[in-house]
Order: sequence, then C-alpha cells, then structure tokens
Amino acid sequence: MNLTELERVAAAIVAQGKGILAADESTGTIKKRFDAIQLESTEEHRRAYREMLFTTPGVGQWIGGVIMYDETIRQKTREGVPFARYLADHGIVPGIKVDKGAKPLALYPGETITEGLDGLRERFTEYAKLGARFAKWRGVIDIDQDIPTRGAIEANAQALARYAALCQEQDIVPIVEPEVLMDGSHTLERCEQVTDTVLEAVFEQLRLARIELTGMILKPNMVISGKKCPVQATPEQVATATIRCLKRQVPAAVPAIAFLSGGQSPAEATLHLSLMNRIKPLPWQLSFSYGRALQEYALAAWGGKSGNVAAGQGEFHKWAHLNGLARTGGFQPGMEQQAA
Ligand code: 13P
Repeated sequence: MNLTELERVAAAIVAQGKGILAADESTGTIKKRFDAIQLESTEEHRRAYREMLFTTPGVGQWIGGVIMYDETIRQKTREGVPFARYLADHGIVPGIKVDKGAKPLALYPGETITEGLDGLRERFTEYAKLGARFAKWRGVIDIDQDIPTRGAIEANAQALARYAALCQEQDIVPIVEPEVLMDGSHTLERCEQVTDTVLEAVFEQLRLARIELTGMILKPNMVISGKKCPVQATPEQVATATIRCLKRQVPAAVPAIAFLSGGQSPAEATLHLSLMNRIKPLPWQLSFSYGRALQEYALAAWGGKSGNVAAGQGEFHKWAHLNGLARTGGFQPGMEQQAA
C-alpha cells in the first residue's frame, strides 16, 4: 500500500472548494431518471448525458472527482477520448462504483446487504488500468419500527471494511458509504441514534480490517427527519445534529467527509452543507458527493436534446459552484435564483 499516494488523491478530490459528482447510477437507476424526462435509456443516451456533464466548461474548479459506473468508465467522448482520461486531463480524479447493489439480507425481512465482494480484487486491477483512482461502495440501512437490526448493521459494516481493504491494497482510495435512508416517518432524533450506531459499527470494522483512515473518505447521510415525519427539523437543527453525531463517531484521522444528498432537493442539500461548514472547528474537510442534488436541474434542462447541452451544463455548473461556496459556509438561500 502506498499511503502517501492514497492521501494525495483523497486531498485532491476535496481540495479547496471542491467535491464529488456521483454519476454512477446503475442501468436501472438511470432509467428511472430518464423516464422523468421521457427519454429512452439507451447506451448512447447514457453516454451523451454523461458527456454533457463531464465536459462542462470550468466545472473542474468545483468538482474534484467523478464517480462512474462500470459502463461509463468504458465509454468515450464523441471525439473518442475515454471519459477517465478526459476527466484526468481536466484535473478531475476518475472514480468507480464497485458494489453490485443492495440485495435482500437472508432471514432479515426488510433489510439488505450490499453485494459485490467476490472477484473484487481482480475487478480493481482492471479498473485501475481504466484510470480509476478512487472507488465507492454503498451500504444501505433503512429505518422502520423494528429495523435496523444489529445483524444487518454489522453485515453491512463488515462488507464496507472488506471492500475498503481491497481498495487500499491496490492504492485506490475507498469512499466508504453507509447510507441511512431518509425514507420513512422517523424523527431527526431517531436518525441521529441510528446514524450513530451505524458509524460506530463501521469504524470498528474498518479498524479490524486494518484500514488506514488517512487514506479514505467517508460518505455518510446527513442527520435529517424522515421524509414522511410530520415534524420536519429546521436546516439549523439538521446541521447541528449531523456535526454532533459525526464528531462523536468519525476519527479526526479521516481527511474528508463527503455527504450524499439522498433525496434532498438541491437547495436543501446545499444549505445544509453550508450551515455545517460554518460550525468551527471541524477536524475534517466537509464536502459533497451528490448525485441528484447536482444533476436534477441539469437533467431537466438537457432533456435528452443535443441542442440543450449548453443549458444542461449551465445548471450543472451552477449547482457545482453553489456547493463549492457551501464548502466555506458561503451559500445562502436565494443565491440559486441569481447564480448563472
Ligand atoms: P444522491 O446524492 O442522489 O443520494 O447520490 C449519491 C450517491 O452516490 C448514492 O450512492
């Protein structure tokens, strides 16, 4: 393991003002996104969409890394430049999602385990050749009356740790993503309690797996009220509870925390990040690794039409920029109406 290299790559991804674009939607998920704009999910449409995002002029000021899907890292720009090389040439670190999705966990009704560990060492060798310098694995924890169970939390934490070890063995920075879902009617307090338990289990397993914490990035959920909870916490409450929870559970050796947006609107996710970055001092870089919150307006503005590429890129650039500002607490509600 070349720890210096892992630390250098992790630092580059979250360098000042920068965060991550999660463009690693699986074929099933991107179909859902395209359905919303009545666009058929063909390989060429998926390629054209990702090309629109990746070639956005100037976006490298705010985007330090892009997470791709297996199909995407094998695709090229219209001019024939592999996406991974195009990104690297523009100062953006190419990354790859390597998990194979959350599947039902046997004997644990309503809970899932993320699959994809078998053969992962060999897959990493190939992805490294294709240009990936970091990777992502997402464990999913759902909240309901009797879940999550200890068994499901431990199973997912252990899978995350085994994945992270295979990453570091091959000098690939692991993004460790334990996502507590915001679906459901639970309160902010319950989300905080579950997130606490999950992070504690994850860091215990990372320690057992001998992970070098200085060479990884954590991608957690924010501590937030369930979507269907009748009492919705204020943005300030979300920021305070999230930082309180992270300070309890995330060692200061971890260089960066890059949040997922998880179904929050772009404005909500950006405001939450901005408010958290105003809390001082923080031992880690606090950044973003958004899928929907960076892409929602870009996808709508593009609409699958080549004539709308500039409009789509304008929206992507705008939300990347606003989140870049949120990295130093500089985003305020309403700024999205003025920004270009
Ligand atoms: P969202 O920001 O849309 O939650 O996606 C981030 C991600 O990579 C989920 O795994």
